[in-house]
Amino acid sequence: MDRIRIRGGQRLNGEIPISGAKNAALPLMIASLLTDDTLTLRNMPRLADVNLLARILGNHGADMTVDGKRHGCNNVQGDTVHLTARTIVDTTAPYEFVSRMRASFWVLGPLLGRCHEARVSLPGGCAIGTRPVDLHISGLAALGADIDLEDGYVIATAPKGLIGARVSFPKVSVGATHNVLMAATLARGETVIENAAREPEVRDLADCLVKMGAKIEGAGTDTISIQGVERLHGATHRVLPDRIETGTYAMAVAMTGGDVELIGAQGDLLDAALDTLRQTGVTVDKTNRGLRVARNGSGIEPVDVSTSPFPGFPTDLQAQFMALMTMAKGRSEITENIFENRFMHVQELARLGANIQLDGDKAIVTGVDTLNGAQVMATDLRASVSLVIAGLAAEGETVINRVYHLDRGFERIERKLGDCGADISRLSE
Ligand code: EPZ
Repeated sequence: MDRIRIRGGQRLNGEIPISGAKNAALPLMIASLLTDDTLTLRNMPRLADVNLLARILGNHGADMTVDGKRHGCNNVQGDTVHLTARTIVDTTAPYEFVSRMRASFWVLGPLLGRCHEARVSLPGGCAIGTRPVDLHISGLAALGADIDLEDGYVIATAPKGLIGARVSFPKVSVGATHNVLMAATLARGETVIENAAREPEVRDLADCLVKMGAKIEGAGTDTISIQGVERLHGATHRVLPDRIETGTYAMAVAMTGGDVELIGAQGDLLDAALDTLRQTGVTVDKTNRGLRVARNGSGIEPVDVSTSPFPGFPTDLQAQFMALMTMAKGRSEITENIFENRFMHVQELARLGANIQLDGDKAIVTGVDTLNGAQVMATDLRASVSLVIAGLAAEGETVINRVYHLDRGFERIERKLGDCGADISRLSE
């Protein structure tokens, strides 16, 4: 199993290309199930999760071909994918797949919309919390689907097709919004989603669906209206830049000091995180090509953060920000409001010498002058990358185990950081 070795202490200077957003790419790929035409997606990140989802969609009958060159790579292909689900050959998403990638549960809405039936395994819990799917189920039931739970599977049918309805979510859910939005594009009549997720990835999915012929208004706000249509057609769409990757590298620069331009980054996708970073003493400026992030010799100011749905501070940057705060000039308080168990990185950061106390949904971080390299491992993607950030500033050698978590969501991380002066390498076994 691959590991990442970092020898800390180098400042980061240079350029980092920002990839297409994983959390937009996944629902966009799933949207290909809604049509028998080809959906072409550009600016696709090359990630383990994308490959796994391609296999899952292949099981339903979708073919994926890949072309295009990616920024900074001469020989590597993978920037553009074409997905064609000419015929849906199987409406079951088995446990073996859904248990490995929660987002694959989102095939439920499109399969119901197009085939009027779907059998999708429950995803189960995961390392960051229980993560139920009640909102997905109640949303699709509101559109007229009959839904049963049997042997760990959601069995949904709508023999006469889905019917538009008012879906009012009691809690904001990105995935439930994606699922109901996709299903509603092929329902009869109007669907209104209230308390919809406002995340940019929802807007990106809606933009693509509109190119495919869907009638959608309000995506990006908390009320989305969808007028169902009879069929969707093919389209070409460019995946928006990854705001979590952007924030992660910005925090890495804040941690090590230095000056890096994040090429292709879009600041308005992560205003809350960038404002917080500025308060820590980092400068963040818009450039013609993206964002420039810099910190000179002055130390890191402690800042309190509290995660919330977009446009608030994202839960997917909480671990990275905590890594930064471990070396701040004082005490900060980090509150996690989205997932109940998203502090698995705390004990690993402590192995590097961080001083963090947990109190329910709060972590109280008292900055230290130095971190020291150690062997660490993490149980999820964002937790893993928080250890990379800490390792970049730690004295000596940090070895991060279970790199497959990183490969799920960060494209060529060791090259992107290495090109900016980090001493980082992948140890393959
Ligand atoms: C998406 O997960 C992202 N995943 C997550 O990123 C992200 O952390 C999360 O949104 C929040 O922003 C992808 O886009 C692939 P939710 P999702 O439904 O859709 C509760 C990463 O690292 N809830 O918005 O699964 C849930 O338990 C990943 O890239 C219900 O109670 O998250 C949580 O507390 C991790 N019932 C809250 O809502 C439901 O039916 C928000 O979850 C659904 C969710």
